[in-house]
Amino acid sequence: MTKFEVTTLNEFILKSQSKYPEAQGDFSHLLHHVGIAARIVNREVNKAGLVDILGEAGEINVQGESQKKLDVFADEHFIDAIQGCGEVCAIASEENENFIIYDDEASRNGKYVFLMDPLDGSSNIDVNVSIGTIFSIYRRISPVGERATIDDFLQPGTAQLAAGYILYGSSTMMVYTTGQGVIGFTLDPSIGEFCLSHKAITTPEDGTIYSINEGNYRKFPQGVKKYIKYCQKKDAASLRPYSSRYIGSLVADFHRNLLKGGIFIYPETESAPNGKLRLLYECNPIAFLAEQAGGKATNGLIRTMEIKPESLHQRTPFYTGSKNMVDKVEEFLQAYPEEKRNNKKKSSIAIEE
Ligand code: AHG
Ligand code: MN
Ligand code: MN
Repeated sequence: MTKFEVTTLNEFILKSQSKYPEAQGDFSHLLHHVGIAARIVNREVNKAGLVDILGEAGEINVQGESQKKLDVFADEHFIDAIQGCGEVCAIASEENENFIIYDDEASRNGKYVFLMDPLDGSSNIDVNVSIGTIFSIYRRISPVGERATIDDFLQPGTAQLAAGYILYGSSTMMVYTTGQGVIGFTLDPSIGEFCLSHKAITTPEDGTIYSINEGNYRKFPQGVKKYIKYCQKKDAASLRPYSSRYIGSLVADFHRNLLKGGIFIYPETESAPNGKLRLLYECNPIAFLAEQAGGKATNGLIRTMEIKPESLHQRTPFYTGSKNMVDKVEEFLQAYPEEKRNNKKKSSIAIEE
């Protein structure tokens, strides 16, 4: 008889407690509750076509974008599930203008703050294409027992204790890091458990996929335009031309590139000088995962996780993925500086139109 060898997320979390000092009881308890919220949202995502949950909720969120019903559902359920663990004093979300302070006694003494994009890729909900949830966890800096403050949330990405995402794709996965590498769990719907499927995810140093919304080409910085031409140019040694793959869900695009090797770019444009993606609950958690997997994440100039946050919903240009690919696009950005970019380095690379 073959041995039944499955490690569930909860078992893994319990085992990690003894190995890593940071994975103490309260922190493990929090991760366990992330898993619960993920399963609740997954249940709704899976039956999205069956119930009246598709389509617009009729509200406009703080970014001025229309909210989808599933956005609201995911937001509310994560907020409740994270409160349920009693370890988090306050939570910030893409869907809410201000952070929410939990007012029950256990949460007031919680040591952590939680940030999230509850439903990422929401334009894909109605068309059965992969979507995700992104989360990031910090130790609070305000005194335990007092009210959380904005400074608890405006910490640089380097201070993250944990970050991860849930990908609602052809299967549902939870991928996270606590700074000890990147681990992946796949949901087995028959037993309702996340099971360890990817013990130590590392990303290739080089890749052959570039992911960018090329419809915006005319608005891109010169360096990005030239890099795209470089990706398309034939060169057997570097396996070019690269493949273009873009789903429009950051989680799904990043996950594919993480496993296969590639680069994801959401650059600044003339009309959106800070790009589209949000630093605190989209880019920083993804950057933490990228670096922990051996990849890289920058705003084109500096490491994403070293950007000093100034506001909760701040945006940033984002370049992430295989290390050598991010290095290469940075060379192009330096070689073709926009007026606002500082042009310290001179590049030796030759560029053709
Ligand atoms: P959200 O659904 O949370 O608002 O995020 C959508 C983001 C991200 O998932 C994706 O990478 C990007 O928007 C796609 O933007 P474009 O449609 O402009 O390419
Ligand atoms: Mn998003
Ligand atoms: Mn979202």
